[in-house]
Amino acid sequence: MDVTVGVIGLGNVGLGALQILSENAKSIREKLGFPLRVKSICSRNVHAKNLPLGGEPPVRTTNWKDVVCDPEIDIIVEAVGGTATASHIIEESLRERKSVVTANKELMALRGADLWTIANQNGVNLAMEASVAGGIPIHTVLREGIAGDRVVELYGILNGTSNFILTEIEKSAANFQSVLAEAQQLGYAEADPSADIDGLDAGSKLAILAALAFGEKLTPADIYTEGIRRIMPVDFEYAHQLKHTIRLLCLARQTEQGLLLSVRPSLIPQAAILAQVKGAYNAIWIRGVYGEDTFYYGRGAGPKPTGVAVVSDLMRVAREIRFGSPERVSPFAHERLGEYKPLPLPTQKLPYYLRFRVEDKAGIIAMLATILAKHRIGIDAVLQLPREDWRDLPFVITTEPAGEQAIRDALVEIRDADFLVEAPFAMPMERGF
Ligand SMILES: NC(=O)c1ccc[n+]([C@@H]2O[C@H](COP(=O)([O-])OP(=O)(O)OC[C@H]3O[C@@H](n4cnc5c(N)ncnc54)[C@H](OP(=O)(O)O)[C@@H]3O)[C@@H](O)[C@H]2O)c1
Repeated sequence: MDVTVGVIGLGNVGLGALQILSENAKSIREKLGFPLRVKSICSRNVHAKNLPLGGEPPVRTTNWKDVVCDPEIDIIVEAVGGTATASHIIEESLRERKSVVTANKELMALRGADLWTIANQNGVNLAMEASVAGGIPIHTVLREGIAGDRVVELYGILNGTSNFILTEIEKSAANFQSVLAEAQQLGYAEADPSADIDGLDAGSKLAILAALAFGEKLTPADIYTEGIRRIMPVDFEYAHQLKHTIRLLCLARQTEQGLLLSVRPSLIPQAAILAQVKGAYNAIWIRGVYGEDTFYYGRGAGPKPTGVAVVSDLMRVAREIRFGSPERVSPFAHERLGEYKPLPLPTQKLPYYLRFRVEDKAGIIAMLATILAKHRIGIDAVLQLPREDWRDLPFVITTEPAGEQAIRDALVEIRDADFLVEAPFAMPMERGF
């Protein structure tokens, strides 16, 4: 007998999954030993959709409740997105004792733990492989592949749009706005790109991964988040002089005091494997106590890579429905382990890259050095590339390892100096790899 599926949301992800279910139906059936049948599909404009479906045509509806309440449907795919309607779709499906497959990182990061509880109470599954890093099966890695290890550090490049923009600025030395416009033209960035370039999308994904890796209940509010809007081509010039590059780095690190969590543009050594991640690709590097380093790389978005994650989740859940499954443990919070509580970022101590844009005059470096010294920040190097415009001269100070709080305090003190063209800009120089 087949297992039946209802797909709600027929945009990039929904259509990508349907295409794979149709084109790859024979292989899916052979791997499972039974077919997956799409019984119903739903979207606002469902009747206008040109679908890549073979076999029996599915029922089309604009009302998601028709799908969720259909007693013949075993699994619901939620591919609507957002936190409003999607939340109702998932909750009602679980209460109807239907397992759910979702790609919705925003909702899983915010409400995943609650929804998981509802799933468990109703004896069904909530599968979310597609919600983080599209085509990289990182959820399965953390829940199964390296579940026997004890993760101490996790680094990720989790937003393809930001990575595309950064690596384009690095390659072409074009400014942020023109590269963003190019990314929008190519379909890599939304008309409103803020969720991507301000780090919010990456923050949702890191919240899901860190919860999985460290067994803590975490939400995006636990993560220090800063986007890439201030990055200029000159930052890459200086980063390269320092044998580094710049990426929007997602970090979750266990320390003796607790868990450090951040999403922010950071300098990473050019020799690091993460520095090789270019364009719209994603990657995750995990360090465990026993297995040490493992690295995962692939497309972070797009209908087909994300569709593979959705279809693979469908197959896993369909197998459970057919053959039963052991008691499930929440991917969101294990027994609370205390040492994993999130820490405020200012406790972090790292070398920093400080970039200033100034109107040139005498005594600037001396004044900056005095303020940095007052906050017990040691200077490692001062870098200044030749520039012609004395009214807007960029230069960089790199520091010895310093506390994040000291850096913030020093920059507040420097911020009002009359020679500054804009507020100073700081990035940590990551040394963990
Ligand atoms: N795009 C990616 O590569 C990617 C990767 C990983 C995860 N995700 C996540 O996957 C989810 C979907 O993303 P997407 O890019 O596929 O979005 P999308 O292209 O905007 O598609 C959303 C779909 O939802 C439908 N929809 C919206 N409101 C609805 C309602 N009230 N009832 C029924 N259908 C409704 C829309 O219908 P109409 O088409 O009829 O208007 C559309 O088909 C999001 O959570 C996103 O974060 C996306």
